[in-house]
Amino acid sequence: MRSLQGLKVTVWRAYSTAKSAPVIAAKHPFKVQLKSGKLYPWCSCGHSKKQPFCDGSHRKAAPDLAPLRFTLTEDKEAWLCGCKQTKTPPYCDGTHKQSYVQECTQEPNQ
Ligand code: FES
Repeated sequence: MRSLQGLKVTVWRAYSTAKSAPVIAAKHPFKVQLKSGKLYPWCSCGHSKKQPFCDGSHRKAAPDLAPLRFTLTEDKEAWLCGCKQTKTPPYCDGTHKQSYVQECTQEPNQ
């Protein structure tokens, strides 16, 4: 477990060890209101229909990827990554502004 800006990450699987690559679910982040102590499953595969959170789609679409489960120590408004390319998951780090994300024509779940 690691702690970063009031964030407790309880499960993390690095992209570099996974065979599946995440798909770009959205070309923008999602603004969300997060509650202290609640466990949130951030979608890391991009296949979920409930972005930015997991709906279990990774089990079929990308079984070697798993959601990033996290809790916060305080209530917080946050921008969670929708492109699944961030280096600071689950938060947006601006990577979605890169041309390889904005010009991507790949559709999730295909
Ligand atoms: S939405 Fe992924 S880095 Fe901003």
